[in-house]
Amino acid sequence: MNSDPAPLPRILILASGSGTNLQALIDASRVRGFPGQIVAVGCNRPNAFALERAAQAHLETFVVDHTKYGSREEFDGALMAEIRRHNPDLVLLAGFMRILTTDFVRALRGTMLNIHPSLLPRYTGLNTHQRALDAGDKVHGVSVHFVTEELDGGPVIAQAEVTIDPDDTADSLAEKVQQKEHLLYPIVARWFCEGRIQLGSDYVLFDGELLRQPMRLPDDRVVH
Ligand code: GAR
Repeated sequence: MNSDPAPLPRILILASGSGTNLQALIDASRVRGFPGQIVAVGCNRPNAFALERAAQAHLETFVVDHTKYGSREEFDGALMAEIRRHNPDLVLLAGFMRILTTDFVRALRGTMLNIHPSLLPRYTGLNTHQRALDAGDKVHGVSVHFVTEELDGGPVIAQAEVTIDPDDTADSLAEKVQQKEHLLYPIVARWFCEGRIQLGSDYVLFDGELLRQPMRLPDDRVVH
């Protein structure tokens, strides 16, 4: 009888920048009992610090440099070829700053998540911290959502809030939000690897039930 344990779900992470979320995911995945394995890290920028973090962690990396492609379709085609090579069960966008084509997104439907620095549906796109300040919001935060054709518009799985203080700037707010990101993304990755979250037509199933509101990360407590 073959008593080998079942292979862990394969996670591929795409990043463009400093990769602090990547680091949080690497650290979480190294804790005994984490139900997934990071198999590769891809970047569209050859100089991204995220690549260095991945190399430090002895992870396989690849670069698909968007400046070398004449169209989004060509870039996405090359990126998809790299992704397929690693046969992932889950693709995590961790500060991956490229708009993806519809075909690309459809091909990975239900298996690709993104972390976005706002309480979606508020502030899709860029400059979310400044926009929250300009609007006079008292609360801001981060969302993890399934990626669908609509930019930052896929069903939200989980959110964490931060309070906006009178002396906050876009930078101080970004820092507060990132602290929550580093807690939230590994938790959601874990849920996915455990088979607890699935994408329905335009909703999330959590443990087989319709998720009516995003899961919340309360204050600094970690939810499981
Ligand atoms: C994160 O704050 C993430 O939420 C944001 O980019 C940052 C990447 O930081 N993503 C987006 O804005 C996507 N629309 P990191 O490279 O240190 O993880």
